[in-house]
Amino acid sequence: MTLLEGCVGVEDLVLLEPLEQESLLKNLQLRYENKEIYTYIGNVLISVNPYQQLPIYGPEFIAQYRDYTFYELKPHIYALANVAYQSLRDRDRDQCILITGESGAGKTEASKLVMSYVAAVCGKGEQVNSVKEQLLQSNPVLEAFGNAKTIRNNNSSRFGKYMDIEFDFKGAPLGGVITNYLLEKSRVVKQLDGERNFHIFYQLLAGADAHLLEALKLERDTSRYAYLNQKVSRVDGMDDASNFKSVQNAMTVIGFSEVENQQVLEVTALVLKLGNVELGDESQANRTSASSICDERGIQEIGRMMGLNSEELEKALCSRTVKTAKEEVVTTLNVIQAQYARDALAKNIYSRLFNWIVNRINESIKVGIGESKKVMGVLDIYGFEILEDNSFEQFVINYCNEKLQQVFIEMTLKEEQEEYKREGIPWTKVDYFDNGIICNLIEHNQRGILAMLDEECLRPGVVSDSTFLAKLNQVFSKHGYYESKVTQNAQRQYDHSMGLSCFRICHYAGKVTYNVNSFIDKNNDLLFRDLSQAMWKAQHPLLRSLFPEGDPKQASLKRPPTAGAQFKSSVAILMKNLYSKNPNYIRCIKPNEHQQRGQFSSELVATQTRYLGLLENVRVRRAGYAYRQRYGPFLERYRMLGRNTWPRWNGGDREGVEKVLGELSLSSEELAFGETKIFIRSPRTLFYLEEQRRLRLQQLATLIQKIYRGWRCRTNYQLMRKSQILISSWFRGNMQKKRYEKIRASTVLIQAFVRGWKARKNYRKYFRSGAALTLADFIYKSLTQKFLLGLRNNLPSTNILDRTWPAAPYRCFNTANQELRQLFYHWKCKKFRDRLSPKQVEILKEKLCASELFKDKKASYPQSVPIPFCGDYIGLQGNPKVQKLKGGEEGPVLMADTVKKVNRGNGKTSSRILLLTKGHVILIDTKKSQAKTVIGLDSVTEVSVTSFKDGLFSLHLSEISSVGSKGDFLLVSEHVIELLTKMYQAVLDATQRQLLITVTEKFSVRFKESSVAIKVIQGPEGGRNDKLRCKKKGSRCLEVTVQ
Ligand SMILES: Nc1ncnc2c1ncn2[C@@H]1O[C@H](COP(=O)(O)OP(=O)(O)OP(=O)(O)O)[C@@H](O)[C@H]1O
Ligand SMILES: [Mg+2]
Repeated sequence: MTLLEGCVGVEDLVLLEPLEQESLLKNLQLRYENKEIYTYIGNVLISVNPYQQLPIYGPEFIAQYRDYTFYELKPHIYALANVAYQSLRDRDRDQCILITGESGAGKTEASKLVMSYVAAVCGKGEQVNSVKEQLLQSNPVLEAFGNAKTIRNNNSSRFGKYMDIEFDFKGAPLGGVITNYLLEKSRVVKQLDGERNFHIFYQLLAGADAHLLEALKLERDTSRYAYLNQKVSRVDGMDDASNFKSVQNAMTVIGFSEVENQQVLEVTALVLKLGNVELGDESQANRTSASSICDERGIQEIGRMMGLNSEELEKALCSRTVKTAKEEVVTTLNVIQAQYARDALAKNIYSRLFNWIVNRINESIKVGIGESKKVMGVLDIYGFEILEDNSFEQFVINYCNEKLQQVFIEMTLKEEQEEYKREGIPWTKVDYFDNGIICNLIEHNQRGILAMLDEECLRPGVVSDSTFLAKLNQVFSKHGYYESKVTQNAQRQYDHSMGLSCFRICHYAGKVTYNVNSFIDKNNDLLFRDLSQAMWKAQHPLLRSLFPEGDPKQASLKRPPTAGAQFKSSVAILMKNLYSKNPNYIRCIKPNEHQQRGQFSSELVATQTRYLGLLENVRVRRAGYAYRQRYGPFLERYRMLGRNTWPRWNGGDREGVEKVLGELSLSSEELAFGETKIFIRSPRTLFYLEEQRRLRLQQLATLIQKIYRGWRCRTNYQLMRKSQILISSWFRGNMQKKRYEKIRASTVLIQAFVRGWKARKNYRKYFRSGAALTLADFIYKSLTQKFLLGLRNNLPSTNILDRTWPAAPYRCFNTANQELRQLFYHWKCKKFRDRLSPKQVEILKEKLCASELFKDKKASYPQSVPIPFCGDYIGLQGNPKVQKLKGGEEGPVLMADTVKKVNRGNGKTSSRILLLTKGHVILIDTKKSQAKTVIGLDSVTEVSVTSFKDGLFSLHLSEISSVGSKGDFLLVSEHVIELLTKMYQAVLDATQRQLLITVTEKFSVRFKESSVAIKVIQGPEGGRNDKLRCKKKGSRCLEVTVQ
């Protein structure tokens, strides 16, 4: 066996060398042992059940297989699903995926993988996702109700399923239709050793909460139910409780309402409970045997749940009404018959419930009428079954498989070879086994086993399974694929394995011996009318709806079609359906009987490969061509690849195809030109063509894009250009218009000037020169006149304090106006002065002098300004005593005031009257009224005052004078400003000397040959003015606190 680089064995059996059964098996085994479970035969996928989770599934792998073509990656179920989906989407061909194989070979798993792949790659969006979800979620629900643990498979599908997934033109799923085939309902009441009933029963008991169990009147313990196998209640690796939750959830997703969900569980519970109905013998005196229900409470409970009177139910179970043309006869049933009726009822309820569920799912996922759709069918149907004891079920199952094999033969082997002949392709015929004869043996309308069975069921008279067998033996005595004891005997064969009640069919997959026991019964599949009528009377809405034939109005005497006939017709429909689609095969192979990973039983696999016809498949495939298509569509699809055929081809289709393929220079071995079709040998060539087409499409798309973009840009450019020209023409026009206007205005102006100039030139002689100046002068003068006259009428008051003055009406008068204002003010002042009397003049002079001496120097000055200097503060006129003291020659007293003399020694004060005359300052003791001290003004050298508001002053005297020897005087007067002003003037008048008045806070006064330092400080505000405190600070310092 050749090992291709990087591959385990060969990935496609077409490449197998030598092509023999043994090498084929070895190749499969080698790959299986290396965990390569998928192998191709051309486009047929062989899948060997790994019995373990391999890390080859999931989104990353889906993404890989979605982007690559079939042969670029390792064989995989995703690759097959991808080819089918792409062919459906891009080539508009309906697809079907046929998954075949024995029970436990992995069909259901494969179908789920295909569905999950398609769901992952097809479209997106809220609506699409919800459809996908519904389609995917139908699996757990159908598996719960239709799958069971068998000896061969822990999750064996006990029904056949064909699911059409429908897509829109873009390849997005729209919905689907599920068709189910022949549920193995006998399992409801009886299971083989080591097998279980349908999963849902165990899931319900394990997963329902206490509340739900109570509502359904169930107990959790499976051993309480007669219909559940007591020995096996659990399956390894299967969690019934959590599966129950998943199923409930899936039902909700699909669209089951809560009520529907509940009703489904109720009916399921009813089936379980029916199994516990025990029937007892009630033989009557007249020896007619009869039966009755032992557990009254149980039947009442069931009756309540069904919404049916329990007596009525009991009657239906234990008796039978036979209608003849004239009368109705009620016969009692014996225990066996009653048990049979009970089981029949349970089986019927369950199988009808299953059908109802399928229909309900279909209702949810169905596609609206009128929507155009493409279809992908996925067929997961029970595999070929060879049991120890094969009955009617195995017979129909195997019949179905026989038909599927026929589809395979027809569509891959036979059809293919016939096509080569038709098309005139040189061909060496490959022999294969055509099972048409076996199909015919079973389904022939008059002479088929099913037809015989129906005939036997309908035939009046005594009918039994053995009469049926006898008939078969008679009819098929010479048939090559039919055997029985009788035919063997006739041929003198001796075979222990063949029982008397058996017949054998040599199926394509092997010989199967069927026991005819209960064939008639199962084919009749009749439920006593009493039971269906009782069920129809039940109040439970779902249960009642399952038995429409129980309605007396609907009851007809016409027999319903037999189970065999029904199955045959549904298989016929299925076949028609499959033939109309492009088939994709997944051939599942079971590697061992023990569900063990890694075990590869060559014998078992050999049998399967043999009956699956894999070797023939490879042979035909090898000799044949992988792909063919009519010249027309082929040319249409690929003509873009040829220079001569693109964009137009005027010749015939075949010539066109020859041209295209010729240009691609493909090897002549790869191609064969038939009468109407082109044949391509290997898929690789096809994928090459597809790849070239994809690249070419990209090129063409780019070309279209390029031309379109060019056209768009060009039209856009032309539009812009036109617009630009329009705008610029308008703009230029406008600009020229404006320029013209400007030139025109300028011309007119120049013209006017020139004309003016000319006119002036001509008329100059008539003009008076300097008229403008005169005019301007006149105007100026008239303005001045107006200004001055206005000013006259608007003069401010003559009050000298009023400094207001009107503003000048024109700026040119500003300076003049200021001058006038000054003039007016001086004039006002002069007027004021002229009005003053000599006395007032004198007073004002004194005030002026005071201002010069104290303004801004002493704080009490501003207060003194408005108070006139009156000179006499002691009433000198009325005081002759004092008058006398001043001396006669001195003239009038300039100032008479009461002052305080500060004792320089102790700082105490004493009151004195001070008189100022033209030559002296006289201090008089107020008490003694005699001159105490007379100081000649010539001896006053300096006066010191403070800058405060106080009246303290010091008279500094020259030392040589007579009074001066006593020292300086420190006095306090309330009119210190007036006093000192007058003293200043007196000194000036008397001595022509300016008396020095020093404003200071620190000075010294002479006292008794020495001096005392006086320091004046200002006391806190608010103290009384006259309060002057002197504080002795040592013998030479006096601190005076004033206000
Ligand atoms: N690809 C796989 N990867 C892992 N395990 C698988 C695979 N295919 C099948 N199996 C295992 O094999 C078991 C049986 O597979 P499945 O139920 O698909 O068989 P089937 O062909 O549908 O049988 P039946 O005819 O009885 O329904 C699965 O439960 C699973 O454990
Ligand atoms: Mg299955």
